[in-house]
Amino acid sequence: MTDTYIVHGDIIHAPALDAIEHIPDGYVAVRGGRVAGIYGELPAEYAHMPLHDYRGRLVTQALCDMHLHAPQYPMLGMGIDLPLLEWLNTYTFATEARFDDVEYARRVYDALAAKLVSVGTTRVCMFSSVHTDSTLALMQALEDAGISGYVGKVNMDRNCPLSIREDTERSIAETERFIDEALKRFKRVRPIITPRFTPACSDDLMTRLGELARASALPIQSHMSENADECAWVLELCPDCSAYWETYHKRGLFGEKTIVAHCVFSDEAERAAIARCGAWVAHCPDSNVNLCSGVAPLRKMLDERLNVVLGSDIAGGAQLSMLQVAAMAVKSAKLRSIATGGAEGCISATEALYLATSAGQVFFGEQPGFAQGNEFHAIVIDDRALQAPPSMSPSDRIGRALYTTESADIEAVYACRKL
Ligand code: GUN
Ligand code: FE
Repeated sequence: MTDTYIVHGDIIHAPALDAIEHIPDGYVAVRGGRVAGIYGELPAEYAHMPLHDYRGRLVTQALCDMHLHAPQYPMLGMGIDLPLLEWLNTYTFATEARFDDVEYARRVYDALAAKLVSVGTTRVCMFSSVHTDSTLALMQALEDAGISGYVGKVNMDRNCPLSIREDTERSIAETERFIDEALKRFKRVRPIITPRFTPACSDDLMTRLGELARASALPIQSHMSENADECAWVLELCPDCSAYWETYHKRGLFGEKTIVAHCVFSDEAERAAIARCGAWVAHCPDSNVNLCSGVAPLRKMLDERLNVVLGSDIAGGAQLSMLQVAAMAVKSAKLRSIATGGAEGCISATEALYLATSAGQVFFGEQPGFAQGNEFHAIVIDDRALQAPPSMSPSDRIGRALYTTESADIEAVYACRKL
């Protein structure tokens, strides 16, 4: 049992959207990188195991960032006075074009991976650029840093600058090479099929990516219904479709392993289609406000039982900390509630914690919370300086953590092992 260790502290985790569990001064036993049990008192069998003692600190789940663009890290906080389509054309495509240089990519991606760990993100679902070799460098950087999840080489063969526009044939051939190499070289970071969004992908490219997804049994990520001009453009580009979601569904790209970012403008019918197909929504509230896209109907999506996860969407979002993105999800649901005169409700801080942690875990095939058998992904937040008022509830402690935690307060990060 040399691969066993014990983590000690005030444990709070989110086994369900509407429930947290609090084990004050408790213990998590970790064996082989997985949760073996959670205890209020340490069982005798673990008495002599290495103890990682964080007494008095908050031990909670590490964060899942389920939608972000790695090659946009160098433009964090830039150009966010522009709406989506202008922002893409003015800043984003030019920034991504630089990633044909693998050495440059390696430098940026090593820095990004280190930053992700420092803010407590241990699992991701990430867009790279169109460049296969730089995408493999990104996977290497993440795996070396201890981060796991999915990374996609982006596909686009229309409506983007020539410097990053792919020929359809080459886009498919490079995607096949990317998948082969990625599956061969990496264990914990896996490939995902990544058509950028309908405006940048021809029907032929989408159809062939749908075939590839089916043949390879890989998941799919894209964008959907983010911005009003984008939504109108998609219907012009695809006269055979009467809703954005159909542009993916008709090409075999919309099912239980599909994750679409945003869905700000998904109406009742589109949300029903998402639920029916079992697709996942990556809600990105910081990005949606920055790019003036809108405020997604998060409370409705949750009440309608859609699968929702959270994403930073950097560099549309300017915040890499998923604790802050979770706080933003709470705030933006409030804005929507205000704008609808209270017709649409808010979400709680503990629901936001679930969305930023457990919901992503479920996408990756695990149980929510610190369930026995899950990989142990945790952060230790030293919140002692704030002093606990005697009446502070576990949900208040979580709310405070989402709203106030800074990188320096994150004392330790675990992804199977201590990173
Ligand atoms: N839609 C297509 N590409 C992008 C992107 O890079 N960021 C965001 N936020 N939306 C997109
Ligand atoms: Fe995005």
